[in-house]
Amino acid sequence: VAPLKVGIAGLGTVGADVVRLIEAQGRVLSERSGRGVRIVAVTARSKAKKRGIDLRGIEWVKSPQALAEDPKIDCFVELMGGAGDPAFSAIETALNAGKSVVTANKALIAKHGLRLAAAAEKHGGALNFEAAVGAAIPVIKTLREGLAGTGVNRVYGILNGTCNYILTRMEQEGLSFAECLKDAQRLGYAEADPSFDVDGHDTAQKLAILASLAFGTKVAQSAVYVEGISSITPEDLRAAEELGYRVKLLGVAVRTAKGIEQRVHPTMVPKSSSIAQVMGVTNAVTIDGEGIPPITLVGPGAGGAATASAVVADIADVARGIRAKPFGRPVERLRDTTKAPMERH
Ligand code: HSE
Repeated sequence: VAPLKVGIAGLGTVGADVVRLIEAQGRVLSERSGRGVRIVAVTARSKAKKRGIDLRGIEWVKSPQALAEDPKIDCFVELMGGAGDPAFSAIETALNAGKSVVTANKALIAKHGLRLAAAAEKHGGALNFEAAVGAAIPVIKTLREGLAGTGVNRVYGILNGTCNYILTRMEQEGLSFAECLKDAQRLGYAEADPSFDVDGHDTAQKLAILASLAFGTKVAQSAVYVEGISSITPEDLRAAEELGYRVKLLGVAVRTAKGIEQRVHPTMVPKSSSIAQVMGVTNAVTIDGEGIPPITLVGPGAGGAATASAVVADIADVARGIRAKPFGRPVERLRDTTKAPMERH
């Protein structure tokens, strides 16, 4: 079988790690998927930037759009970020040409996921976005395939590594919010605009994606009530601790009589609870299924290597010929039963 020919758009922290991982894991990948995986072309903003990766033998293409149109490519990997163009148009072009797409872009999936999923379903390509939520944790796969036979009543967790890292260090070391945020940026956890992390929008995007997969509803970020962590001080955390609590930024989506309720806000959790033990950049997602005890997935939720691991797993699925419905069901079957966000109080 001919190897899967991959084109990568975006060579930031995650993109460079994907190149490294495919290089290092090439043999394992082809054993697992029954087919080789080869990066044949890449594009990024700067060709000159030092990335510490070997791009010899890989074509440099002038733009994401040109890469998406390139007939050599079977699988277009989008790692540029941003909810709009150039990522959106390039992905749509690739899908309309029958290519498969792998992306880590939660903002884009939260905003345009349904339209892109419809294009994937129509033209037969895959649209895989495991890295968009919980980085290396296989939470999309768990909801989409692993729990396909189970109804879900609630899905919740710590979905932003930057916020959990900040809260952990503020609590343990008494450092200021600003200092911890700077470190999260330096370590490559935070978004290019870190207000997406600390104001809760990144969590809201991830929650909207998980809720769609869990409940068979349309992705609806606008239905998520959002409150971030930027006004929390080390003193607040100390006060919570004295009462036996920790503060975590949680995303919660729950089935109610009135529809699916989705919310993101700092939450006091008892120190003895398992979610309170989740520290640093770690993410945790708990799924309450019908008739089965809760399932909790815990693991690294941000960072180049952790995100790249999920991207490469998605590429391996494409190589294996897996074409899951992006949201677990045909797009036209997804229902619109999300509740309006709750009132601010
Ligand atoms: N900025 C995100 C986080 C990256 O901190 O969780 C992973 O999506």
